[in-house]
Amino acid sequence: MAEEVTKPFTLTRRSFVGASAVVGGIAVAGPLVACSAPEPAAEASVTLTINGEKRTVAVDNRTSLLDMLRERAGLTGTKKGCNQGACGACTVLLNGRRVNSCLTLAVMHDGAEITTIEGLAKGDQLHPLQQAFIDQDAFQCGYCTPGQIVLTDTILAPPAAASASCSPIASAKWPRWLVANCNSQPSGVS
Ligand code: FES
Repeated sequence: MAEEVTKPFTLTRRSFVGASAVVGGIAVAGPLVACSAPEPAAEASVTLTINGEKRTVAVDNRTSLLDMLRERAGLTGTKKGCNQGACGACTVLLNGRRVNSCLTLAVMHDGAEITTIEGLAKGDQLHPLQQAFIDQDAFQCGYCTPGQIVLTDTILAPPAAASASCSPIASAKWPRWLVANCNSQPSGVS
């Protein structure tokens, strides 16, 4: 009768790698299997008056006012620069006050009045500031010009709407930060 020989357990490099792969796979896949599918983002319906026109838009609750204007309302004149409140390219008027639209959520403004760069002109007639930018060749690269115009409108407009003359543009000291924040300017401008 043959004698039964019990081999001592030996761990080869190949068996170690194989076992590690199995154990690792279980460790990684376990939690994934246990996780349920992510919940869909909550949506809300927001009604705003945008450039004088009442519009109702369905938005993800996390949508910024800027993204809502550009991607849901189709108003791409308002630009996304830094998307963190530093450049002003996204400036719009919210109930008559300027805001960085990248820093506020659309769902917070149900019922609000929004004015974007598209709302400044009267049909084919440019807003005096738009015309002044053209006349003075004030575009730099042009990307953030809509934000500059909307912002400047709030700076120049007296509380009680007066004449829309833009003569101050020619003589006023241009708000330095508007220029300083523009990457198209040489670094000496501040
Ligand atoms: S995109 Fe720059 S401040 Fe909003």
